Amino acid sequence: MNFNEIQEKVKQILPTKRYEHTLRVVDTAVKLAEKYNANVEKARLAALLHDVCKPMDEVEMKKYVIKYNLDIKLLDYPTEVLHGPVAGVYIEKEFGIADEEIKLAVANHTFGRTNMSLLEKIIFLADYIEPARKHPHLKEVTEVADFDLDEAIRLSVKYTLVYLIDNDERIYPSLLKCYNYYNIKNYQVGFKEKNKEKILSGEKIITIRNKSEAHFKKGDILEAVTYDDNTN
Ligand SMILES: [Fe+2]
Ligand SMILES: [Fe+2]
Repeated sequence: MNFNEIQEKVKQILPTKRYEHTLRVVDTAVKLAEKYNANVEKARLAALLHDVCKPMDEVEMKKYVIKYNLDIKLLDYPTEVLHGPVAGVYIEKEFGIADEEIKLAVANHTFGRTNMSLLEKIIFLADYIEPARKHPHLKEVTEVADFDLDEAIRLSVKYTLVYLIDNDERIYPSLLKCYNYYNIKNYQVGFKEKNKEKILSGEKIITIRNKSEAHFKKGDILEAVTYDDNTN
């Protein structure tokens, strides 16, 4: 199946509004992929397929959870959570998408996880900041996504958690773990491995590099990492 054939099939599956949202997520994901040097074709495809299971009914979603040995705890969560991981297996079965990176990005778009791949981050965020989203944090998170993907993830997960708690919804643990991971990670300060000795001896000092570190305050305790160690 080529991209156009997949797009035609997705169009038939999704109600008009959901399909239009999907196309805006595709555009947003492609822009993010270009900006952050991700695989644009994978971003386009993952975005196109991310909500393909949204119209499926809850009973069918739960059958997928059992049949494909997904996390059994998912059975306690609503379709808003389930449609991601279910689509992760559905797109292989129905569209022949075997690419693990695409499957993971689709599966995790509803709750994120720790240490997401670049593609997972892009799909998660594109879904949150496509321009017709109505939530009050659209402008802020869109702006942050332009210079710091991880901080944009942290903010989008934070606002999602606050929304879910306010509405007495259950929190799938992966979302909370995702928040902790990006919240803590954000308090890392990085420097180049080659400067390690000079920094440890006090000959050189670490300075704030850009806006992504501008929130550090006097007295903050930060984890110091070398870029070469930091694979994220
Ligand atoms: Fe979704
Ligand atoms: Fe979506």
